[in-house]
Amino acid sequence: MKIVTLSGDGIGPEIIQQAINVLRKIGEMYGHIFEFEEYLIGDIALEKINCSLPEETIVACKNSDAVLLGAVGGAVGVNRWINHPTGDRPEKGLLKIRQELGLYCNLRPAILYPQLKNASPIRQDIIGDGLDIMIVRELTSGIYFGKKLRTNGETDETTFAIDELYYNKKEIKRILEAGFNIAMKRSKNVVVVDKANVLETSKLWREVTQEVAKNFPEVKYSHMYVDNAAMQLVSNPKQFDVIITTNMFGDILSDEASVITGSIGMLPSASLGNGTLGLYEPSHGSAPDIAGKDKANPLATILSAAMMLRYSLNLEKEAQKIENAVIEVLELGYRTEDIFEKDKILVGTRKMGELVIGALNL
Ligand code: IPM
Ligand code: MG
Repeated sequence: MKIVTLSGDGIGPEIIQQAINVLRKIGEMYGHIFEFEEYLIGDIALEKINCSLPEETIVACKNSDAVLLGAVGGAVGVNRWINHPTGDRPEKGLLKIRQELGLYCNLRPAILYPQLKNASPIRQDIIGDGLDIMIVRELTSGIYFGKKLRTNGETDETTFAIDELYYNKKEIKRILEAGFNIAMKRSKNVVVVDKANVLETSKLWREVTQEVAKNFPEVKYSHMYVDNAAMQLVSNPKQFDVIITTNMFGDILSDEASVITGSIGMLPSASLGNGTLGLYEPSHGSAPDIAGKDKANPLATILSAAMMLRYSLNLEKEAQKIENAVIEVLELGYRTEDIFEKDKILVGTRKMGELVIGALNL
């Protein structure tokens, strides 16, 4: 199985290395051969060949079985590329690879591990015994990909910018179907988040939701305005099972959901399209401040590798093996700095990777 790795920037290379080590071990244990090939994306790609997503990278990803990505951007200063002649910047590489591969369905699970309960900023009586929310974010349309315009006029009024928010029915339908299908495998409870009291696109989302829901009579669904959803996520998060939403609302709500689980360093993500090819990446960023210091938490990337086994390579047993190993390591009390608490054992990136590999044998 051919796996393209895009380590990218900041802590990317360190955490990807740990995920590769874990996958190699799983390959040995179950008799699979994973071939890894590294390609450029982001800051490092701009630095080396002046383009955030080289053609070579796109071709390699398209010819692979799955893509594992570390992190993109921020590594050499946010303003570094501000005057780039084509307006390229590291994040553009990430948006483009999602679009080139047709990965419209972004799964962002927000799970609170019982072992990490104290790390949540939310009161214990609200969090209860845990949280398990799946955010299904539309990833290749909406305001991220609509027409953009910027003018520099003579006056303040003629100097303006436009970001168009566009959705067609096909795009809405396929993300809703993906979300409802996921809900069928969980507790069959969907909340579709929008801003239908203001936005025309949201009204269309509501219409299409009603249509799609007819094919899923067992799934209970409701609509919620995004401002209310942002509030409900901190005041009553346990009401949520599957949240389906637009590109931008999903970007924002998934950060919020992740932080209430205690550490963004724990959360994986999967970006899927119509085939089995998918892109897997931790939900956190490139953390340039701790890059190269053996401090980053590799667990989100290792859990992303597990999602890759599940969704792209059809290796459910192996995926669960990794997820159980991660829980075991937490149970044994090992913590990287971001999830450290008193009386636990502080370890670095490499050691954490080794511990997971050790726990695979248990
Ligand atoms: C994410 C990130 C990206 C996004 C940025 C880096 C373009 O915030 O994956 O959530 O907004 O999609
Ligand atoms: Mg984001």
